[in-house]
Amino acid sequence: MAEGIKLIAGNWKMNGLRASLVELDNIASRAKDLAGQVELAVCPPATLAGLAGEKLQGSGAALGGQDCHSNPSGPHTGDVSAEMWADLGARYVIVGHSERRADHGETDAHVAAKAAGAGRAGLTPIICVGESLAIRDAGKTLEVVDRQLEGSLPAGFKGAFVIAYEPIWAIGTGRTPTPAQIVEVHQAIRDRLSRNFPETGSSARILYGGSVKPDNAAELLNLPNVNGALVGGASLKAVDFLAIARAAIGV
Ligand code: PGA
Repeated sequence: MAEGIKLIAGNWKMNGLRASLVELDNIASRAKDLAGQVELAVCPPATLAGLAGEKLQGSGAALGGQDCHSNPSGPHTGDVSAEMWADLGARYVIVGHSERRADHGETDAHVAAKAAGAGRAGLTPIICVGESLAIRDAGKTLEVVDRQLEGSLPAGFKGAFVIAYEPIWAIGTGRTPTPAQIVEVHQAIRDRLSRNFPETGSSARILYGGSVKPDNAAELLNLPNVNGALVGGASLKAVDFLAIARAAIGV
C-alpha cells in the first residue's frame, strides 16, 4: 500500500483562455492551507503554461504538462518537450492519456519514450492506462491494463513515476466504475509495479481518473491503492477542484 499524501492533478485538456487563469489565483491562494496534507497539480494547455506557472509559483500547487515529445528539442512542429515543461517549473507531465492514444495514434512504445523523456528532464510522468467499454465487457480489463502498463512503463524505467488508471468509458461521461472494479484494477497495477520495481513499486502513486467530482471524490479516494485522482472536467473550476482536494483529506 502506498504511503504518503495523495496527489490531485487537474487536466484542463483543450480548455481555457487567459480569462480562465483566475481559477489558478483561487487554487494558489488556498493551496498553502492544504500543503503537507494533499498535493495539488494543474496541467493547463500549453498556451497558458507560462502564465499558469507564474501564478502557481510558490503556492505549493505544482504545474504539469498534458503531454511531451520524447526528444529534448528539434524539428517537431507543434510539439513541446519535457525540457520545455521543466524550464517553466513544471513537476509533472501526463503521458499516454487515452485521448492522445486515440487522437494521435500513440502506442505504448510512444508513451514509454515520452515517459523516458520526462524522466530525463527531471519531471515525474503521470502515465495513463485504462480500458474501453468493449474490453471491459469482454472481461479483458486486467489483461489489457497490464499490457499497457508493461508497454508504457518498461521494467528498466529509472526515476519517479505516477500511474493513472482511467477507464475510457468513465472519462467525461459521468459514469464511474464500482468501488470493487476500481479496487480490483488498482490492486493488479500495484502487484505489477511491485514485481517490476521492487524498490519503488509498492509506494508509487496510482491515481484514479474518470468523472471524479466533489460528490464522489471522498468515496473514490478512500479506496485501497487509490493514491489520488486525475481530474478533467471538475478541475476547470477552482471551487470543485479544491472540494476534491479537501475530500482527499476528509475535510
Ligand atoms: P473527466 O476526465 O474527469 O472529465 O472524466 C478525466 C481525465 O480524462 O483525465
